[in-house]
Amino acid sequence: MTGRLQDKQLILGVCGGIAAYKSVQLLRLMTQQGARVRVVMTRHAGEFVAPLTFEALSGEPVCIDLFDRTDRDASIRHIDWAQEADAAVIAPATANLVAKLANGTADDALSTFLLAMICPVLVCPSMNTHMYQHPSVQRNLDRLKSDGHMVLEPGAGQLACGTVGPGRLPEPEQILDRLISRLTPKDLAGKRVLVTAGPTREFIDPVRFISNPSSGKMGFAVAAAAEHRGAEVTLVTGPTRLSDPAGIQTIRVVSAREMAGAVFDHFEAADIIIKTAAVSDYSPRETADHKIKKGAEEMSLALQKNIDILRTLGGRKRPNQFLAGFAAETRDLRENACKKLVEKNLDMIVGNLVGNPDSGFSADTNRVTLFFPNREKEPLEIMDKASVAHRILDRIMERLS
Ligand SMILES: Cc1cc2nc3c(=O)[nH]c(=O)nc-3n(C[C@H](O)[C@H](O)[C@H](O)COP(=O)(O)O)c2cc1C
Repeated sequence: MTGRLQDKQLILGVCGGIAAYKSVQLLRLMTQQGARVRVVMTRHAGEFVAPLTFEALSGEPVCIDLFDRTDRDASIRHIDWAQEADAAVIAPATANLVAKLANGTADDALSTFLLAMICPVLVCPSMNTHMYQHPSVQRNLDRLKSDGHMVLEPGAGQLACGTVGPGRLPEPEQILDRLISRLTPKDLAGKRVLVTAGPTREFIDPVRFISNPSSGKMGFAVAAAAEHRGAEVTLVTGPTRLSDPAGIQTIRVVSAREMAGAVFDHFEAADIIIKTAAVSDYSPRETADHKIKKGAEEMSLALQKNIDILRTLGGRKRPNQFLAGFAAETRDLRENACKKLVEKNLDMIVGNLVGNPDSGFSADTNRVTLFFPNREKEPLEIMDKASVAHRILDRIMERLS
């Protein structure tokens, strides 16, 4: 399984902020994606996390002091490492580091490295809310943006120092996502992609519903992959535990009827439509206003067929639109998937057999087969859902060109 940062050389800059502990997890995520990561820390960062932690996890020496006489390579590292790097991430970036970078100050290893760098730099400021909102910090952040650096907005909430407001370092997964996005070639630039994800819920009464175990992970992975590749993405999702992905217009719906409405609203404008959502085929004919009380030994529920969103889109599709569906099956994958492909006028169907712990609903990995109208099929090996998403987009782009 190749990571999304395979063969990348990255610099992780760590400053003396309370969120320095999160950079340990960020380092792990970066290396798990295949990157070679070199850590450059400020002296004050060492008050929060020991350099040995970063050294052990990166497998590389950590640079803190350019003039460390016990480390004979240190004095030239700021040139070598800076020139070899594909990107740098500063997380957390203190108010102090932001000020230094905005003003071209180079008075320690990290600030010196940053001036020697010609690669993209992702700055992740994190500090007390009053510090963050201080006009001089805001002025410095504006300067960084106008200098071409990417600045990741901090999250808001209750901070470690007790203040409430912006200043929290985004989660390592979010920082990694922005980094991957920055480093991914933009072959989908100019394309509008509509993705659906998750299950739907068809309420029986205010406290009970018909649904399925779809986690939304596959659809979110497709949406993120398309965004990373430069597309303008709209994601229509049923209820999931996943938070809104960065850079994507996310529309949250509950029922199949709501999903249909949102999809039809955005279908016309889309070049590529990828429907991963597990939409309920049926919903209760009536939804009770109040909780249904326990009574008779048996109870029947009258169900009515929901609108078939994919079939409707297949009927409305323009020749220059690409429509892909998913088929989660428990048996006869080829037969069922190909039937759906033809009947619903799709350009591709992604079939998977659900029921295995490493494939389908809720899993982080998936084993799928791609089917096409010319009877071609491509079985993919088991891989993480982000890799499946990229493979699907690769095949769509090949066919569109
Ligand atoms: C417990 C503690 C937590 C701190 N947290 C932050 C922080 O989150 N963000 C920040 O900008 N400064 C923070 N500071 C202040 C910085 O450590 C201080 O400005 C320092 O000079 C930064 O040095 P550096 O940028 O070289 O790492 C904190 C200080 C202490 C003592």
